[in-house]
Amino acid sequence: MPFSLDHTVFFGRTWEESTGMYGLSEEGMRGKRILDCPGGPDAMVIEGINRGLDIVACDPQYSQTPEQLEALGLKEISETMISFQKDPNVAADQKQADAYEKLKLAALSSFLEAFRGHPDRFITGSLPSLPFEDDTFDLSLSGHLLFVYSSLEQGGLMSHDELDLDFHIAAVRELVRVSRQVRIFPTWSVNKPPRRQAYVEPVMEAMAAEGHEVSLLPSQWVEMEYKEFNDFVCITKAS
Ligand SMILES: C[S@@+](CC[C@H](N)C(=O)[O-])C[C@H]1O[C@@H](n2cnc3c(N)ncnc32)[C@H](O)[C@@H]1O
Repeated sequence: MPFSLDHTVFFGRTWEESTGMYGLSEEGMRGKRILDCPGGPDAMVIEGINRGLDIVACDPQYSQTPEQLEALGLKEISETMISFQKDPNVAADQKQADAYEKLKLAALSSFLEAFRGHPDRFITGSLPSLPFEDDTFDLSLSGHLLFVYSSLEQGGLMSHDELDLDFHIAAVRELVRVSRQVRIFPTWSVNKPPRRQAYVEPVMEAMAAEGHEVSLLPSQWVEMEYKEFNDFVCITKAS
């Protein structure tokens, strides 16, 4: 049986992981209004603030208190690592798994620093309906929700088909509504052998049919063995 999850995990990446995922440099982000959606417990906001960037995050979980999110984040990291390591489809050697867990804990700690110190940067909201006006942002970053939480049949991780193709198209359309450019990562399956997520192509086709410029661009990302599809979907809104 492939590895599966029954919910979207409150699990986040560090600044280096995130900028690598989206093929971004600090200079490339400067002067832009940036949305991280879903932000989850990633490190983008505090690291962005420290670099003078204009960045906010949006996630359904942000209605909770910092204490609740700390407890949730720790529980999700610990439970996900245990289930990963129990499953021969996705298990890594223990040294790699420990290093991976350390990165998740570092991201959670950075997230909590930002969530406590800069609550105005965290907006509660859910795709496919975001609480922002059209074109509020220059750049929206969407990591580890779209594609990866589609069902197992579609190359995703979910044991059920809640985030179906209609959801994906509506969610990406919404990100494009609020932003000039959208970057989505990852595009491949977590279960082995890695393959392109089934919804990548239809989502790209739907956005191209709506007149947007759509491409797969290289990521600077290596996670364990998943090197085959080292890219992200980039959508630039038709002007
Ligand atoms: C694995 S985290 C990704 C965090 C971060 N972007 C990263 O790549 O590390 C997935 C997040 O998706 C959020 N989420 C679940 N359903 C959502 C929805 N409909 N709209 C926006 N975010 C959602 C969850 O609350 C969770 O924090």
